[in-house]
Amino acid sequence: MSNSSPATLPSTARVDVTLRLRDALLAASFTADGLLDLLGAPAYAALARSETVPALRATRGDTALESLVRLFLLQQPVPHARVTGVLPVDVCVEGGWLVRTGGDEVAATVDIRPYGGPGGEDWFIVSDLGCAVGGAGGIGSRDEGVVLGVGGASTTLAGITVRAPVGAALDLGTGSGIQALHAARHATRVTATDVNPRALDIAALTLALSGAPAADLRQGSLFEPIEDDETFDLIVSNPPFVISPGARLTYRDGGMGGDDLCRTLVQQSGQRLNGGGFAQFLANWQHVEGEDWQDRLRSWVPRGCDAWIVQREVQDITQYAELWLRDAGDHRGDTAEYQARYDAWLDEFEARKVRAVGFGWIALHRTEAVEPSITVEEWPHPVEQPLGDTVRAHFDRIDYLRAHDDAALLAGHFRLAAEVVQEQVGLPGAEDPEHVVLRQNRGMRRATRVDTVGAGFAGVCDGTLSAGRILDAIAQLVGEDPVLLRDRTPAQIRLLVEQGFLEPAR
Ligand SMILES: C[S@@+](CC[C@H](N)C(=O)[O-])C[C@H]1O[C@@H](n2cnc3c(N)ncnc32)[C@H](O)[C@@H]1O
Repeated sequence: MSNSSPATLPSTARVDVTLRLRDALLAASFTADGLLDLLGAPAYAALARSETVPALRATRGDTALESLVRLFLLQQPVPHARVTGVLPVDVCVEGGWLVRTGGDEVAATVDIRPYGGPGGEDWFIVSDLGCAVGGAGGIGSRDEGVVLGVGGASTTLAGITVRAPVGAALDLGTGSGIQALHAARHATRVTATDVNPRALDIAALTLALSGAPAADLRQGSLFEPIEDDETFDLIVSNPPFVISPGARLTYRDGGMGGDDLCRTLVQQSGQRLNGGGFAQFLANWQHVEGEDWQDRLRSWVPRGCDAWIVQREVQDITQYAELWLRDAGDHRGDTAEYQARYDAWLDEFEARKVRAVGFGWIALHRTEAVEPSITVEEWPHPVEQPLGDTVRAHFDRIDYLRAHDDAALLAGHFRLAAEVVQEQVGLPGAEDPEHVVLRQNRGMRRATRVDTVGAGFAGVCDGTLSAGRILDAIAQLVGEDPVLLRDRTPAQIRLLVEQGFLEPAR
């Protein structure tokens, strides 16, 4: 379905024009910081909710920055005279970034959103008109190949990605190119693919306008554009993960039944990873009647890989269908049509015996371990982004635990992770707590119940004494047999290490 034909894109060949535009945008402080200063926090935050009225009010003046915000972020035609001193207008028209509209005005052909890189870079994300802010709200009336800008899922994936220096990185389903842009900071070569050729052009524009090296851009579905013998150190994908009755919008509906697209992506990525490499995805998965959802996900993990799968949210099928109907703006259209679409969605779920849908992250680490570790867990609580270092440290600790049996663990030295605190939980006024909780203030911000031995042990861990020596001292203090304590405690220590409360002090 296509209700409006997409505008012609700026020329990817005219990098000279793109660089002149970049200089002009920077000179006018059309940057993430500049935008925040100009709009103020409430209007800036409103943009993320697709509300543009506060930003329109804040850009009624005639400064260079106000003109650029109206032009490239709010899709307002601007009088030619207002931008002549700000932009190389004729060159931008020639390069396809601007068009002359009726009267003496110019309008943008694409959205450009200033985006601050993690190292303070001034980047720009290019997307189709009306897609720079607030995600997809009501995009359903648009062309099926519309290319979105930065959404919550984009920044979540960018935040959880392991950012170690690597040789080759792959961004599968690049869209606006945001993941490729992040990868360009720490990968020597970046390959970006998309089934939608328009997305590849937009990704090229994002990279060039951001001053980043060009990526190797390839069109095709999933791993089709990748050569048989091609492998990567990092694979990232924010795929079209929506489980829907039919492929309607390329950016979100994968066009495969149920959660098959996500499953295929995960399964096929194993053989595309170099040893030591990471593959990281956002995904949706079905909770099917009579099936354990965790087993379902475990079965997706390719051979040779450790996996860490975190379910961040679960929605029942009605909430899920409504979420994506709203995403497409269907709730604002004809009621009968809306109800028919809703019905079709529920029919599809019923046929597949789907009761709910999980949202989350899937991280793979290729280790070739004989006994791979697969962790599938539910953690719906707030975390501290960026989490890339936390993800890497998780897999490092898994490697450590695999290599250390209980005797080796007791000979090991551990350090309490930074900013872990102890909370005592019990009735007000009670002499002894009912239980003790260790809580992380960083990373995953986990909390876990421990017994008094666990709490005492964690408190002493500063890397000086071996775990066994600490347990012997605790045994003496509480009058317990040290042999029995050495026997029963490694399981608890393993859990504390696995969850990042304790770190091996190497
Ligand atoms: C949710 S968007 C993600 C865009 C961008 N990577 C981000 O993080 O914001 C998914 C992208 O995958 C692309 N896509 C859809 N089906 C695909 C397929 N079978 N193979 C590769 N890419 C696909 C869409 O065109 C879209 O650009």
